[in-house]
Parts: sequence; structure tokens; C-alpha cells
Amino acid sequence: METKMKQSVDTTSVWRRKPLAAYEADVQKSELKRVLTRWGLTSLGIGAVIGGGIFVLTGIAAHDWAGPALAVAFIMAGVACTFAALCYAEFASILPVEGSAYAYSYGTVGEIFAWFIGWNLILEYMMGATTVAVSWSGYFEKLLHLFHIDPPLWLMNDPVTAQEKAAALRAAGQAVPDFSFALNLPALLIVWLVTYILVKGIKEAASTNNIIVIVKVATVIFVIIAGAFYVDVANWTPFIPNPVVDESGQTHYGFDGIVTAAGIVFFAYIGFDAVSTQAGEAINPKKDVPFAIIASLVICTILYILVSLVLTGMVKYDQLDMKAPVAQAFSDVGLTWAVYLITIAAIGGLTSVMLVMMLGQTRIFLGMAKDGLLPKFFRDIHPTFRTPWKSTILVGGIVSIVAALTPIDKVSELCSSGTLLAFAMICAAVWILRVREPNLERPYRTPALPVVATLGILANLYLMYNLRFDTKVTFVVWGALGIIVYFLYSRRNSNLNKQL
Ligand code: ALA
Repeated sequence: METKMKQSVDTTSVWRRKPLAAYEADVQKSELKRVLTRWGLTSLGIGAVIGGGIFVLTGIAAHDWAGPALAVAFIMAGVACTFAALCYAEFASILPVEGSAYAYSYGTVGEIFAWFIGWNLILEYMMGATTVAVSWSGYFEKLLHLFHIDPPLWLMNDPVTAQEKAAALRAAGQAVPDFSFALNLPALLIVWLVTYILVKGIKEAASTNNIIVIVKVATVIFVIIAGAFYVDVANWTPFIPNPVVDESGQTHYGFDGIVTAAGIVFFAYIGFDAVSTQAGEAINPKKDVPFAIIASLVICTILYILVSLVLTGMVKYDQLDMKAPVAQAFSDVGLTWAVYLITIAAIGGLTSVMLVMMLGQTRIFLGMAKDGLLPKFFRDIHPTFRTPWKSTILVGGIVSIVAALTPIDKVSELCSSGTLLAFAMICAAVWILRVREPNLERPYRTPALPVVATLGILANLYLMYNLRFDTKVTFVVWGALGIIVYFLYSRRNSNLNKQL
């Protein structure tokens, strides 16, 4: 590094920073092989991004909120992510270490800021994995139906969704037995399978993951091309349905509905930042990690816009399925063989996203625990498997229980809210660092930073502001809890105290 960062911050302050020498020592200690090229990294990014957002949430977002203007919602969310990605890329080029935004901001902005980003990343990764588990279950159920297996509602859905579905079926004249308990069993089981793989170590899973990514991207391209032949332009009219206000005062459709949908489908973009967790294995991390972050985002944005146009063109928005909308659209037009293909690809593809998200979560916990901000429990490595097994099992336990019992829209929005705030904070952090350390070596510089950072902060906060009220309340409670934990535990136990 040409210019070392000044480490002149008062070490008792909540703004104290992790010394750069400590990062350099971390990198020295790392025994990872540097094998990943820029396109290898990009493919990892795409693999982490394409999942429940496009295969599942498109259903809810179009059906309830945006109508055919779903593509506009994807553009809005894509723009907010692009600003964040441009800022992320500069950070990744300055500190090519593993650990994502948490690690970057600890070395550059200060401890409390980093802590709060880490705390929000818990929502991103854990609630993200939860959402994907519920999405997985939706496609798994679809697969069972293809083989004429019809499990009871109470075994395939969280309690709220199960009762809603039972009521709808009864209203349609079907006999559905009463039940007082329900859980999403497939979601619970898949989380435990992923947890098992992660505890045993994922090296063996890496090549399978590459194949899954190829199949997943090929399937998305197939959906776009094959689906285009079944588009009925009448389904796009009206492109933006008239606004409807529900009993809780929320506006569906119209401009407001599109913005809410953008907050929901924002989830579909989450994961491009996972590229940064692979910095330790990149051949040329300073240049290639920024490239891969931006390239995977651009490629996914284009694919998403095209899929949303095709989907809302194939099926009228108010008839889109909420659990497996892409497969159902092909089923509706009679392409049964395509339904098999999409369902199986989605099941594999969603498993790989879950793997990356739960892996990312445990590695962030590991980083925070190594810095002393979380208890030793989170950095206990298994003697044989060399994985942080205790925290992996804890993460698996929480994710599986929430996935079994909570409706998907609640968890996905919570995930989005945490990520949106983390992205806004990244935009601010890069800007703060430019002002504070103007001469630092930056292999990649965010273009027009004050403009991009300002727009990034505003766009991400705006999407957050437009999420549903109860999501915002839960989010504020989570944030308050984070501050309490910081002052009661992390600040006192931080490694930086030892340097006093
Ligand atoms: N972007 C990821 C997905 O849509 C999290 O599943």
C-alpha cells in the first residue's frame, strides 16, 4: 500500500479502527490458494445472486404490488444496488480481505460503524438463507405435485400461510380437515442438510456448485427465450394498474406499489457482495474483485428485467402463482417438460444460494469473534473438519426454525431492510474514507463519488422507508438490540482494548 492509513484514533473511542498491520497479518496467515480469475469470481457472484428473488418473489411482487410493472421495480432496485456496488468495489480494492463490508469498515471508519454493519449483515445473510429455504420448499412442493404426491397443507407451510390456504380452499368448496399446528417441514430439512454440508467443510461441494451455477443461468436464459414465444401483450395492459389502498392503509399498484415491489425484489440482487468474501482466493483481488462485483450485478439486472417482462406477459399478474411462479407460468401454457426442468434447476440453484448465505454468515461471525466483538463460541473450529462448527449449527438452528414457522414475505423484507441499510452505510463509508485518507492507494475508484454515494444513500434509504410498517418496527427493535449488545459486550471485549 503506497500510503498507510493513519491510525491516530483514540483507542478508547467507539470510532477506534483495526490497524492495517492486523489485516496484513490475517492475509499472511491465510493458506488459501489463489486460483480464481475475474470471470471465476463473476460466476461465483451470479451463483450467489440468482435464487429465491427471481424464482419466487416475482410472484408476490407482481401479484400484490406492481402488476406488469414488475420490470420497473427490478430496474429501481437494480439502480440502488449499482450505486452500492460501485462503492463496494472501491472498498474491496483497498482492503482485499475476506469478511465483506464488516471487515472493510472496521479498518477504515471505526468500530461502532463496523459493528452496526455486521449486525445488519446478520439480517442479510440469516434472513436471506431463511427466505431461500422457504422458496426451496415452494419448488420442492411443485416437484412433488409433478409426481402426483400431495402432502397435507400443515406439513408444507408455516402456520399463517397454512390457515390462509385452508380457508381459501374451503371457500372454493373443497373439504380441508381442521389442523391446529403447521410447519414448513421441507424448509426445515433442507436447512439441516446445508448445515451438515457446511459443518463437514465445503471444499468437495465447490465443483458441484459450479455445475449448479451453469444450470441455473442456462435455465434463466431458457425461461426468457422459450417464454418469449408465449407472451400475450394483452397481459401487459394496464402496465401500471390503478392504485388500491388496503384496510391497513398500504397502497398496492400505482407508483407507490412499484416502490414497495422494488423493496421486495431488491432481495433478488442480494449476494453480489458475497464475491468480496472470496478475496483470499482471487489471483488479482485488487482489480478482479471490483470487476466481478459490478459484472455479476449488471448481468443479473439484465436477466431479471427480461424474466419479469416474460413472466407478466405469459400470465396475467393477478393469476401469478405465489410459491413457484416461474414454473407455474410454463405449466399454465402447457409446457410440462419445461416445468420439470425449471423446478429441478430452481431446487438445485436455491440450495447453492443457501449454502453461500449460511457460509457467509458463519464467516462474518468468525471475523467478528476473532476481533473480540463476539464470544469465542463463534470462532471455535472443529478439530477434524476445520470449520466453525458451533456457530454453523447455531445458524442452522435459527434459520430452520424461522423458515419452518414464518411467512416468506416477512423474512424476505427483514433481510432486505438489513441489507439496504448496510448498503447505504457502505456508500457513506467510502465517501468518509476519501475525505479522511485522500492519498490512499485505490486500484479501483468509484466514479463521481460524491454523486454516486449520495444517490446510493438516498436510493437505499428510500426503498427501506417504503417497506411495510411492521418490517420497519422489527428492524428498529433489531437495531436497538444491536446497540445494547455492542455497549454491554463487544466494546468491552474488543481486541483493540488489549492495545491500550
Ligand atoms: N439474491 C438471492 C436470491 O434471490 C439472495 O435468492
